[in-house]
Amino acid sequence: MRLKDIIHLGVSATMAAVAFYWVGGLPVSAEPVAAVAMDVSAQRERLSWLRAEIARHDELYFKKNAPEISDAEYDRLKRELVVLQKAFPDDVTAGGKKSKAGDDRSGEFTTHRHREAMLSLEKAYEESELRAFMARSERALRQENLVYVVEPKFDGLAVSLTYERGRLVRAVTRGDGSEGDDVTANVSMIAGVSRELRTEGEGGAKNPIPEVVELRGEIYLTLAEFARINAEREAGGEEPFAHPRNLAAGTLKQKDAALVAQRGLSLAVYGWGAWEGGAGEPGSQQAFHGLVRAWGLPGVEGAAVARDADETWAVIERWGAQRSTLAFPADGVVVKIDSRVWQRELGAGEEAPRWAVAYKFPPERVVTRLNGITLQIGRTGVLTPVAELEPVKIGGTVIARATLHNVEEIARRDLRVGDFVYVERAGEVIPAIVGVELERRGAEVVKFEPPEKCPSCGAALVREAKDVKCGNARCPAQVRKRVEFFVSKEGVGIRGMGPALIERLVSEGKVAGVADVYGLKKEDVSERVWAEIERSRTVELEKVLAGLGVGKKRAAELMAKHEDLRGMAEELGGEAGALVEAGVNPPGLREKK
Ligand code: IVH
Repeated sequence: MRLKDIIHLGVSATMAAVAFYWVGGLPVSAEPVAAVAMDVSAQRERLSWLRAEIARHDELYFKKNAPEISDAEYDRLKRELVVLQKAFPDDVTAGGKKSKAGDDRSGEFTTHRHREAMLSLEKAYEESELRAFMARSERALRQENLVYVVEPKFDGLAVSLTYERGRLVRAVTRGDGSEGDDVTANVSMIAGVSRELRTEGEGGAKNPIPEVVELRGEIYLTLAEFARINAEREAGGEEPFAHPRNLAAGTLKQKDAALVAQRGLSLAVYGWGAWEGGAGEPGSQQAFHGLVRAWGLPGVEGAAVARDADETWAVIERWGAQRSTLAFPADGVVVKIDSRVWQRELGAGEEAPRWAVAYKFPPERVVTRLNGITLQIGRTGVLTPVAELEPVKIGGTVIARATLHNVEEIARRDLRVGDFVYVERAGEVIPAIVGVELERRGAEVVKFEPPEKCPSCGAALVREAKDVKCGNARCPAQVRKRVEFFVSKEGVGIRGMGPALIERLVSEGKVAGVADVYGLKKEDVSERVWAEIERSRTVELEKVLAGLGVGKKRAAELMAKHEDLRGMAEELGGEAGALVEAGVNPPGLREKK
């Protein structure tokens, strides 16, 4: 964000005291507020709202790899749903079936059915819930001395690798648990994913290999690799990625195996599904770890063995404290009963096995001062507010900003500049403000009023639903964003035309719209950029439309109706006509046929 794009509202003050209030309608304690304070009809309403909201966040998380809320916030919605579902077991509102883990299929890949379903894990958020799991297991098995294996819970994307007679034949994402996307080509590019299991063991002994095995594991990005990718992006003037999990999932979900290779994904194999023929199943989780290592695959390194709840909890506390120094993103631990015999005895429920539980680390939350609210102008003219925070450390990283989504959210949450706010971040998600310490609010706090004029061009701002918008299409801040988007990979892909160059061209008055990119003179840009501009004149029509911000559906409709950009310019409006006039001539559809 550049200074010109923002306005700033700041105060300074000192305040004291405590107390925590939710400002987003979400409860903070383990006991959801909704079940306590609302009347029956409000609870039912809340239940159906929760279903829709969770479905929306599932879509964002699993399909778009672009979650809007932190995992902790999401988990809270889920837990509230569970409580309300118990209170209203008869409730079957629209699509009101039981909430299940989402579906990661993107529609871009062929799908494949798992031989054995990929289940999810039961979650525990409190020490007591973890202890309850262990007590329940011991009671059910009438065993006092169970052995548990504690593994990190990798925060990535679950995959199933099928090996037939030791040879990798397929890699499939979790999908809806029964059927997932076939991502074999991409997974084959991941370092450490051997095409053949090593059959020759130490000292000439043979490693046992089943006829068919579905190995289950997590694909993730190490934090070092995540940092490397972001450093490169920032050097190139691009926005850094927010979260290693979403970047890993987003990378694996692209039909671009070379990109997968560039982005250094990792795999950890932690379990199996089908295990058929040949050598029998390992007798324990520990034996499985050993076998995965012997086969030459990356497994779970550093798993701990615990003999009771105290030992297990000690491991969790130790890992929790070291969390920010781990090499990979972990959002908790998975506690598994070691013995396969006992695992079988307990079996599985509809959604998760009964022999394992995932303990999720508490969200990392701190209190800090909201020093100001700045506004960032996007390519459509919408002003997005950003919370400017007194820099504070969360989980080893200094946070100075948090997203606020839209101006209405500021009013809804009644955030005032100068407030002490709770900031949370689970894993590497962009931090979010989750609460205000109302008791610490002093008289000097300042209510945020959206400005009346655009901070970049001075045009009058208009209200549109939850947003405020600058309606001036020639607003320099908007033009910069539009051009940045148009020339990006999502658009016509002019490499080397980064934000710094665009800013210069806009401020020199040489670019006042995307079409002006094609009116530049050779001396305005480097030779390389010049060549890229020329090349981009004839990229696919789809790219030009995407670069203009036209969605896929509308693009398909336009292409069904018109033969080329010239034909669709009038209907499209905006900058399409100017592009045609500037000689941008993507191959028309007739030429393509
Ligand atoms: S075992 C039957 N072990 O967590 C399910 N899962 O929230 C067996 N995960 O879908 C899963 N680390 O994608 C297992 N060490 C680990 C894990 C792990 C991460 C993921 C996995 C699963 C999700 C459940």
